[in-house]
Amino acid sequence: MRAPAGAPAQERTLPMTEVLRTTIDVAAVRDRFSALKGDFAFLDAPGGSQVPDEVGDAIARTLREASANMGAVYATSQRIGRILAEAEQNAATFLGCDPAEVMFGANMTSLNFTLSRTAGRGFQPGDEILVSSLDHDGGVAPWLELAHDKDLVVRHIELNPDTTLDLDDLRSKLGPRTKVVAFAWASNAVGTVVDARRVCDLAHEAGALAWIDAVHYAAHEPIDVRAVGADVLLCSPYKFCGPHLGMACGRAELMETWRPYKARPAPTSPLGRRFATGTHPYELLAGFNAAMDYLASIGGIAAVAPYERSLGQRFLDGISDAVTVYGLPGMEGRVPTFLVNVEGVPAEEVASKLADAQIGVWAHDSWYSLNLYKRLGYADKSVRIGFIHYNTTDEVDRLIAALEATRGS
Ligand SMILES: Cc1ncc(COP(=O)(O)O)c(C=O)c1O
Repeated sequence: MRAPAGAPAQERTLPMTEVLRTTIDVAAVRDRFSALKGDFAFLDAPGGSQVPDEVGDAIARTLREASANMGAVYATSQRIGRILAEAEQNAATFLGCDPAEVMFGANMTSLNFTLSRTAGRGFQPGDEILVSSLDHDGGVAPWLELAHDKDLVVRHIELNPDTTLDLDDLRSKLGPRTKVVAFAWASNAVGTVVDARRVCDLAHEAGALAWIDAVHYAAHEPIDVRAVGADVLLCSPYKFCGPHLGMACGRAELMETWRPYKARPAPTSPLGRRFATGTHPYELLAGFNAAMDYLASIGGIAAVAPYERSLGQRFLDGISDAVTVYGLPGMEGRVPTFLVNVEGVPAEEVASKLADAQIGVWAHDSWYSLNLYKRLGYADKSVRIGFIHYNTTDEVDRLIAALEATRGS
């Protein structure tokens, strides 16, 4: 592996004995996914994970057997009520909050537009929002639009050269006008993880809200929103084997103070439902419940994280100097998501040759991470590779060989 020009030297920290530890029965896991039956290697989980059959089955079953709306006395409507309550309980278990603090929406970005507008109703012209330069634009654009409408100021927290968050820069930008510190817990582009506890503490010391985009992090590391101290946290179940949905949790004492944007007759309790703007996609919530059952059956995210890290380490150990990896050079401080370029081969061509070799990766310019992209220094595009727990060591080895082969013809 080659480090990008100007990158600081850093040592790999995990010994091989540690990284070869497998914590899940990957073959048994893959048996549950029709999508994984062929030879195609899906290495694009950061764009959206594959889904076990039981999730699709639950969605179809709900449409067949429980198509109704909430609140009627007949059986299918009652069933819908139970699906929503179960989804709130599952989300609460996944995130470490109370079921009443859970909210669902179309996707993270839509929920973030809704919740940032709700939180910002009392903000005054000149109030400040800090966002991180590691962020996906789903975590930035909602604040920029709010700032546009309410004359607020959005400032970016800088990064260190290795793509970690510059906490000194954060400290220097916090002040009495700071209302929110919003940041991605893990980068969907380079995989760098932020010390979320530290950032939340700094935000709170300045009297600001701590607002976490956990979309990328949630697929790879377990979440305890109370332990980390976030006021609001958002993620997207389609990144961790669920359907296309967004979900969030907010601290109850904070949400109690918010005036929701909602249709007036819609329910106001439990608390989280106050922020639902209309009818929920009940069939997708049933799919979400099945995805949570699936994850629980394989031991949860905590159980698969070491295996995922071992895939990442195997990749880093196997690639040659012709492959430049942007961001952190080892597995320390990151999730197994990598932005790379192959020497002398345009990213689009790499992605297309890998597709020919039955390997699914993606070439893009910014990865929706507009501030990070400016700092990475590649001329055009890069290739993103994302491993998740259903990937295999064989797929990693095929990828390494296929990356090398892109230079040959
Ligand atoms: C880190 C991060 N934040 C936010 C988003 C936006 O999520 P959604 O597609 O649910 O709106 C993504 C999507 O890829 C992401 O990776």
